[in-house]
Amino acid sequence: MLSKTGSNKNWFKDWFGQEYVDVYAHRDEQDALNLVRLILKHIPIRENTKILDAACGNGRHACAMAKYLDYLFGIDLSLFLLRQVRQNCHFKIVRGDIRALPFKKEFDALLNLFTSFGYFFEEQDHLLVLQEFHKVLKPGGFFFFDFLNADYVQKYLKETSERWIDSKKIVEHRRINNGRVEKTISIENQGKVQEFIESVRMFTKDELLSMVASAGFTVIKTMGDYHGASLSKLSPRLILLLKKGKA
Ligand SMILES: C[S@@+](CC[C@H](N)C(=O)[O-])C[C@H]1O[C@@H](n2cnc3c(N)ncnc32)[C@H](O)[C@@H]1O
Repeated sequence: MLSKTGSNKNWFKDWFGQEYVDVYAHRDEQDALNLVRLILKHIPIRENTKILDAACGNGRHACAMAKYLDYLFGIDLSLFLLRQVRQNCHFKIVRGDIRALPFKKEFDALLNLFTSFGYFFEEQDHLLVLQEFHKVLKPGGFFFFDFLNADYVQKYLKETSERWIDSKKIVEHRRINNGRVEKTISIENQGKVQEFIESVRMFTKDELLSMVASAGFTVIKTMGDYHGASLSKLSPRLILLLKKGKA
């Protein structure tokens, strides 16, 4: 069932459309609000604070922040999700790749939320992303990094699940392969079946800490969920609050 996973190294260019929105409908406004509250607790906001949501998707976090911020930007690769931003709320959006950010050293804070990292198959591309994040932050700027917790994924991985969303049958198969968590998502609707792939490099905490350090970040705090609980092996998320340069 998962044999095709490794063959589509550009899976992230195909997956983030309407089907992604349907399958992740539970990642809704409330889920985004919990995380936004945590972000606003940790990142000081002043009148001119300029923030970039890197891989902003359809803007569910940025939309919740837009009322506090005049200088809010989002970048994403998915034209479909960026079109949804336009319908949802107002902040400045750019279509682009997080491996080549079209910005200068201009942001006070950068967000990378809900596992929008670890998609590439070339290891150096992940470090490149972190270096790009570092490049566009002002000295002392904050980087709020919300990634999966590899220990948690490993312990609770559910190999197969099936559910219905209206008339669509969604079947998800998951496995850990070559240090990545891979999922095939099959969507059956009125006899037609579509199949998509997700494949995310399962960086451990130590691997992530070493990568962010080599990109020039200092760790301010680690957290394990959207309510700010301490990070442990069983935490659902691995959240790093980082600063550009020395603490
Ligand atoms: C799991 S979604 C999360 C979106 C958003 N942060 C949220 O929480 O709703 C990952 C996002 O990363 C975007 N993405 C994937 N690869 C990208 C790349 N190379 N450059 C920019 N965005 C990318 C996708 O289009 C998608 O919107």
